[in-house]
Amino acid sequence: MSSTPKSGRWIRVGSVERLEKRGATITFDIDRSKFLSGFVIKRGERIYAYVNHCPHNGSKLDWVPGELFDESGQYLICATHGAVFEPETGRCVGGPCINQLLIPLQVKLEDQSVYVEVVSSLVLQ
Ligand code: FES
Repeated sequence: MSSTPKSGRWIRVGSVERLEKRGATITFDIDRSKFLSGFVIKRGERIYAYVNHCPHNGSKLDWVPGELFDESGQYLICATHGAVFEPETGRCVGGPCINQLLIPLQVKLEDQSVYVEVVSSLVLQ
């Protein structure tokens, strides 16, 4: 899979305090017409956002919306075939798409709100 990121528009996806609890996520729509969504997580003091699109076969990672971490809370996991990903890099470290990457999105914080840059020209392959 690859993407063609271009500059997009920033959308507010929620407050940073929603990410304080271990395993917490914020999910959001990128393009409903394409069933394309994303998610935000917090690790330590850093916030990360990815397209909710597994590099193995394009499934959303979560069967239960927002349930994106494995039982250990250390890795993101795809519910379809069990690929696990490093939260900080989006790299698959176990499963059928080993070393492939989740697609990262730009994130910024303003006044305790989390904003993600949504790229309308995102092309998934
Ligand atoms: S679709 Fe994610 S591991 Fe197969």
